[in-house]
Amino acid sequence: MCASAAKKNVLVLGSGGREHAILVKLAASPTLGELWAAPGNGGTANLARNVDLAIEDGAAVAAFAKEHAIDLVVVGPEAPLVAGVADVCRAAGIKVFGPSAQAARLEGSKTFAKEVMEAADVPTARWESFTSAEEACAFAREFEGGCVVKADGLCGGKGVVVASSAEEAEEAIRACFDGAFGEAGAVVVVEERLSGPECSLLSLTDGSTVVALATSQDHKRALEGDVGPNTGGMGVYSPVPVASEADVTEMVAVNERVVAEMARAGSPYVGCLYGGFMLTEEGPKVLEFNCRFGDPETQVVLPRMDCDLVEVLWACATGTLDPSMIRWDSDWAVSVVLTSAGYPGSYETGKLITGVEEAEALPGVTVFHAGTKLDAAGALLTAGGRVIDVTAQAPSFEEARELAYQAADLIDFEGKTLRRDIGHRAMRSKEAWDE
Ligand code: AMP
Ligand code: GLY
Repeated sequence: MCASAAKKNVLVLGSGGREHAILVKLAASPTLGELWAAPGNGGTANLARNVDLAIEDGAAVAAFAKEHAIDLVVVGPEAPLVAGVADVCRAAGIKVFGPSAQAARLEGSKTFAKEVMEAADVPTARWESFTSAEEACAFAREFEGGCVVKADGLCGGKGVVVASSAEEAEEAIRACFDGAFGEAGAVVVVEERLSGPECSLLSLTDGSTVVALATSQDHKRALEGDVGPNTGGMGVYSPVPVASEADVTEMVAVNERVVAEMARAGSPYVGCLYGGFMLTEEGPKVLEFNCRFGDPETQVVLPRMDCDLVEVLWACATGTLDPSMIRWDSDWAVSVVLTSAGYPGSYETGKLITGVEEAEALPGVTVFHAGTKLDAAGALLTAGGRVIDVTAQAPSFEEARELAYQAADLIDFEGKTLRRDIGHRAMRSKEAWDE
């Protein structure tokens, strides 16, 4: 049997809805051998063997992979990538889907990302990077309508303040330098505030070949009408009709240029490159890059993909990616996130979850678990802020949205909270976006 057709044992690192969506797709592959999730959640336990591993400890991950004859390690979240887990596994001879620590700096350092964007001629907000509050505040005052203040390092999505005034910007700058984000805030990027609809464009790459996935749009704010505090994401849909064909062409080209620049600079990028864009009047501009699949974007993008995901991720890890490995269905997908009351602030856990099987019985519905766990008796309990993502696929956006809410209403737990307006702007034009 040729090596590429042999069954592969796969270990997925992470415990969110994104990892559950990856595992569901891997589990459907005819080339899958054994499937492991570390640490996984209450949903992944039905598909894979959950294992308690320190996923940011490269030596521990590599030792486990060796011991269990893992062929491919798929890294879900950014922290293990920035910590160099992919490098340690590769050095031990294990194939990895996910960038090296150096390439993961595209997410791990906003200054590094901006430098790569400059080198690759990528449109982005005007910016400067600072190590002193005085200079940062002086630059912030140059922007009349406010600006955006970003801690340079990883802050779990909390390190960005979109400031409407110089005073607000100064407050954010001082908080950063006063240690609000620890080391991650020792360098601060101040940038121009852009406006327009946001759009995510994920691409898969083996370091040279780049295959763009479908567009998607997250809803980051906690409350309906896109207000309230930022969250990890409250819901998402795919594709994104407000992105024109020209916008998509440009976003795809941006991801390709960045992958080419990383290779040219000697740190080839392998894995999923997540481009976060704003569709401005001057065309798409990059807000950020992430070095991994988006969460919850993956929960609408992967279900729409027609491919053997083991083959595709293996091809990325071995420099053999071919665009013909991936096809798309014409359906729409909408995913609604069910959270614990209080999220993104403090919340209670350990609540009994009911109705998952009933929701999954609806044709076109998939339930992805995030903060869930099974207790010793096999009962499904809440174990996090974002608990469950309900994804629905249908031939039209309206049908997909309706089905997602129909399924979401069948699931229950004490304190269940959701936004009822996911996709409320999906059919708007750019001109009417902010009305
Ligand atoms: P980031 O983590 O850099 O993507 O920023 C988080 C969120 O802040 C983005 O999804 C945008 O909603 C907002 N944001 C970031 N940069 C800008 C910008 N230059 N102008 C306007 N909004 C921004
Ligand atoms: N949905 C935003 C992220 O994955 O960072």
